[in-house]
Amino acid sequence: MDSRNGGDGPLRAAVKTEDLNLPYASCLFERPPDSCALVIVGASGDLTARKLVPSLYNLYLRKALPDSFIIVGCSRTRMGDEEFRAKMQDAVASLDQAGIDEFSRRLFYLPVQYEDERSFDGFSGRLRELERGHGTGGNRVMYLAIPPSLYSSTVAGFGAAGLSAEHTDGAGWVRIVVEKPFGRDLDSAKDLDRDLYEYFREHQVFRIDHYLAKETVQNILMFRFANSIFEPVWNRRYIDRISITAAETLGVEHRAGYYEQAGVLRDMFQNHMMQLLALTAMDPPSAFEAERVRDEKARVYRTLRPFRTDRLREQLVLGQYREGVVDGKPVVAYREEPGVDPESLTPTFASMSVFLDNWRWQGVPFRLTSGKRMGRKLTEINIHFKEVPHALFRRTLSDGIAANRLTLGIYPNEKISLTFQTKNPGAVVCLRSVDMEFNYHQNYSGPTLEAYEKVLLDCMTGDQTLFWRQDGVELCWGFLTPVLEECEACGDRAQMLLPYEAGSMGPDQRAGGEG
Ligand code: BG6
Repeated sequence: MDSRNGGDGPLRAAVKTEDLNLPYASCLFERPPDSCALVIVGASGDLTARKLVPSLYNLYLRKALPDSFIIVGCSRTRMGDEEFRAKMQDAVASLDQAGIDEFSRRLFYLPVQYEDERSFDGFSGRLRELERGHGTGGNRVMYLAIPPSLYSSTVAGFGAAGLSAEHTDGAGWVRIVVEKPFGRDLDSAKDLDRDLYEYFREHQVFRIDHYLAKETVQNILMFRFANSIFEPVWNRRYIDRISITAAETLGVEHRAGYYEQAGVLRDMFQNHMMQLLALTAMDPPSAFEAERVRDEKARVYRTLRPFRTDRLREQLVLGQYREGVVDGKPVVAYREEPGVDPESLTPTFASMSVFLDNWRWQGVPFRLTSGKRMGRKLTEINIHFKEVPHALFRRTLSDGIAANRLTLGIYPNEKISLTFQTKNPGAVVCLRSVDMEFNYHQNYSGPTLEAYEKVLLDCMTGDQTLFWRQDGVELCWGFLTPVLEECEACGDRAQMLLPYEAGSMGPDQRAGGEG
């Protein structure tokens, strides 16, 4: 009997997961990865203490790490193993301390000078000794937690020291993890890929997009392709438009140096927004495998209709936040943030209409909107269906009643909801809009994996499904680079940038562009 769809309904309903000896933990990970060393480059930095080591420690507590596993921190700072261990213990002080001593013994530190090739030779020798001593089998993940300006010299340093080479017999894999930004335009993205390919092959490169590790983002594909009822209506015949929103309450924080150069289009659109677009619009892959999933995403990016730069203003709204009130607290304007040019023309908000030139989506606008210092933190995808073809109840409906809407809530509401019309009780035909809602954690109280725990585990198991592939990165830059060039070079750049009050939902004016 097929145990997935119970012919034995009532009996199955009584069976509890515990009874089947299938703890929720079995959904967290299949098996610990191979023995390996994880090298964190930039180990004295913020990401290591804030995200990487706490995530690794959590994985360790869950027994998701292999027995032979070491973490080797490296950066320019001079320090020894003990000092590094003490810093990392502070970083995980708020977590369960049950395994801290044993975990700390797996931490090591080696200094390296990124711009000095000889320094990588010394590093390489000591790393190999540690790897041999701890039986990691030559398997190695190198995580670049450093500013992108240091990527090239670091990759070259590791490569020249022989640390990128994999054993041909399959034992001894080597992977490199790269955080965004992957370049700042098409040319620089290609330069970065060329530098990586000098020493690594694509199957070794893991380009992280933390949005893809969010459970609710991963669930988009399950929702679309593990259910049969949505796919038939997922096209231009039934869908009027789609909006994808990632609004933040945070401002630029302490990242002005980076953000002034990036702006919202590079910071949010080239990566996270494009991933949400691909997951919403892609065709079903033939298998749930990294290459097949990434093929379908690349096919979406290939169909992006190039922006007509002479009609840019019809499809794109840019804004920058002024002072205002967010979460009840007064906040300063972007131009008054520490490190920001008082005359900065960097956009902190953008809303753009994009079109996909393919059979499924012809004529359907995708409106992508993201901004900082907005009224609330909200990440969601709204699928707006078409009106009914013949409005039978027009005279009874109030004007405001909307067509069906499907909302894929990513944050803070991790939910899926469908809005539809229903009859009010009574003799008169009165209708109202109601929501049918599923909350992601409904009927689930088991453990979850935090985004960085998931990506670290995937790097160690070698699963690239949630990572950017080079063609996707370059296709997206190919789409956005002309837009950026036009925005940054045009004479009325200042006029294009609409001010919006911090704490609002962006500038008043919105671009049209129905295509
Ligand atoms: C990062 C951007 O990639 O994503 C940040 O650099 C932004 O500027 C962040 O704040 C948003 O991520 P999340 O998970 O909070 O929506």
